[in-house]
Amino acid sequence: MEGVPKPEKPTESFFFKPQPENPPFSYKLRLCTMFRAAIVSIAVVIATSICFLLFSGTQKSIYHTLYLSSSFSSNESISNHLYTLTKRPHVAGSAANAEAAAYVMSTLKSYNIRAYIRPYYTALTYPVRRSITLAPTIHDAPIELDLKQEIYEGDPYADVAGEVTPTFHAFAKSGTAVGLAVYVNYGRVEDYSALRETGVNVSGRVALARYGKIYRGDIVQNGYAAGAIGVIIFTDRKDFGGGGGDAKWFPDEKWMPPTGVQVGSVYSGAGDPTTPGWASTEGCERITDEEVEKSGDVPLIPSLPVSWKSGEVVMKSIGGMVANEDWQGGEGAPVYRLGPGPGVLNLTYEGKQVITTIENVIGIIEGVEEPDRYVILGNHRDAWTFGAADPNSGTACLLEVAERLQKLQKKGWKPRRTIMLCNWDAEEYGLIGSTEWVEENRQMLASRVVAYLNVDVAVSGAGFEASSTPQLDELIIQAAKQVGRLGGGGSDHAAFVQHIGYPVYHSMYDDFTWMKKFGDPLFQRHTAVANLWGLVALKLADEEILPFNYLFYALELQKSVEDLQGDISGTDITLAPLFNSIAELKKAAIEINNKKKVYAPSKYDDYGSRSFPGIDDAIEKAKSLNTADSWHSVQHQIWRVARAITQATLCLKGEIK
Ligand SMILES: *[C@@H]1O[C@H](CO)[C@@H](O)[C@H](O)[C@H]1NC(C)=O
Ligand SMILES: *[C@@H]1O[C@H](CO)[C@@H](O)[C@H](O)[C@H]1NC(C)=O
Ligand SMILES: *[C@@H]1O[C@H](CO)[C@@H](O)[C@H](O)[C@H]1NC(C)=O
Repeated sequence: MEGVPKPEKPTESFFFKPQPENPPFSYKLRLCTMFRAAIVSIAVVIATSICFLLFSGTQKSIYHTLYLSSSFSSNESISNHLYTLTKRPHVAGSAANAEAAAYVMSTLKSYNIRAYIRPYYTALTYPVRRSITLAPTIHDAPIELDLKQEIYEGDPYADVAGEVTPTFHAFAKSGTAVGLAVYVNYGRVEDYSALRETGVNVSGRVALARYGKIYRGDIVQNGYAAGAIGVIIFTDRKDFGGGGGDAKWFPDEKWMPPTGVQVGSVYSGAGDPTTPGWASTEGCERITDEEVEKSGDVPLIPSLPVSWKSGEVVMKSIGGMVANEDWQGGEGAPVYRLGPGPGVLNLTYEGKQVITTIENVIGIIEGVEEPDRYVILGNHRDAWTFGAADPNSGTACLLEVAERLQKLQKKGWKPRRTIMLCNWDAEEYGLIGSTEWVEENRQMLASRVVAYLNVDVAVSGAGFEASSTPQLDELIIQAAKQVGRLGGGGSDHAAFVQHIGYPVYHSMYDDFTWMKKFGDPLFQRHTAVANLWGLVALKLADEEILPFNYLFYALELQKSVEDLQGDISGTDITLAPLFNSIAELKKAAIEINNKKKVYAPSKYDDYGSRSFPGIDDAIEKAKSLNTADSWHSVQHQIWRVARAITQATLCLKGEIK
């Protein structure tokens, strides 16, 4: 999973590929990925093909209550799973990750769940050579920056620390960039605009950006667009280190230690970049590296992540104008200036791309009445380092759900629909394991999947956050109320949007010790996640009428269109097609709700998200180009989304035209 404070990846493709081709009904996917930042993130993705309502008469709710009973749940076994899964660093493609896959599979089998491993052969990258040198001016001899994450005294993982992959950006461009250092804040488009307005020319320079706000791949891409020849991204103490000053860090406090580095991918696509749109099976067709570069999904300039300690060293070498207050660091940080120079950076990165075996573990509990309808629970297993929060807090919960489902089966429960437990590989590189599997099974999944419930980081501290496609909002709110006591907070929907930091994200310090000391000392938050995840899955698997409420969806869409109004004011673009198609969707949704007599939307939550990535991107582009063509394509995107909403309405009404 990706990011704190709330950065991240604009691509999550489970059943859909978002932008630029994503259908509007996957829009929440983008939101989910923003929430990868999050602490507890339940992403729920619904296939579009769920236009059916089936009736029959079995009463399953007794089992659902039993599922939540304390005799069924075990924080001890969750803790044991997490401990076992995180004994060693287990990046995708490593022997340790294959061991973790074997553990997941044998555990599922021990619960009498049919399980198998589906391997794929995918392009992954690993670091070969990395260095950053810094000269105070072009006349000085350079010093070498330390790129190593340090163990601490008494670190129980000291003996396996050497197995941690050296810090790098997956799918970064290999090469050397030598140039004056320039500070670019979070590396957002608006940060580069601000620099331009101030007269700071980034072209030909090496950019120093700080993590947060946006996906790291975009930090690099934006740097490239501004003419930077290389990008170094540091973890600012202000954002990940407890604010700076006298704050302590792990193992004394939860904060990122001085040498901690956030590793991660800079690939902006989803799935194996060498097999776009098809599965990476043995001997399959692959596009060339040149074609991959042309896709625009991999950066064309080198980049490396560094610690806050190293970031501050570079910062001190940058002179020129003092940056604005909101570009400054926390207490005790040096003064941040814009540059460029006089410090000269030499950023050198060499990676190797290897076709690597990855392993998804799939467990199946077959449905009795509707075996060909699937409710899928997903979580990934591969980790940049030990992965105690990201992702194995989720894996431990998945195994807990599996164990409780076995206990239910022993009491006579059988699911109405098929439940699949999917443990993905190579998510960190760019959702590779799940995407390849979906690509291989696309036709089957498109017609059979009822819902996809993803938990990436289950627990990383107090608080709870969930995201879903809006037709599931009501179900999740209800389930959360039933589960109660989530993350020590309330059980109302507000608990879902609490946001808290997870400072050791993607660093070497994301280990069992951190979880035990700071994340979830008694494993009760894990238990709460297993409660909610399993309960939502049970309702989706067992209720005769699928518990979707599309009115939430329509309202969410409408709110997003209202947000767009500001963006296009002063142009002759019309949003009428969207308003009209949403009004129809609303009508159809209300009608269905009335038929189900379960219509009780109490409130509507503002997620504050960008719901129409296609339209947003077009507006963004039109605003910067300001040509008739670019504004025309905004209108085209609006029509396109409106047509898709109309299709959904037909689907809800069960109408063929
Ligand atoms: C920025 O610098 C590059 C060369 O490094 C130059 O080609 C370009 O014209 C400069 N841009 C501005 C706006 O001065
Ligand atoms: C930059 O660093 C690399 C790796 O240490 C080195 O091979 C290269 O010569 C350096 N380039 C310059 C111009 O100093
Ligand atoms: C499980 O929770 C109980 C309290 O309900 C606590 O005493 C116990 O230590 C917890 N176990 C673990 C492994 O955290």
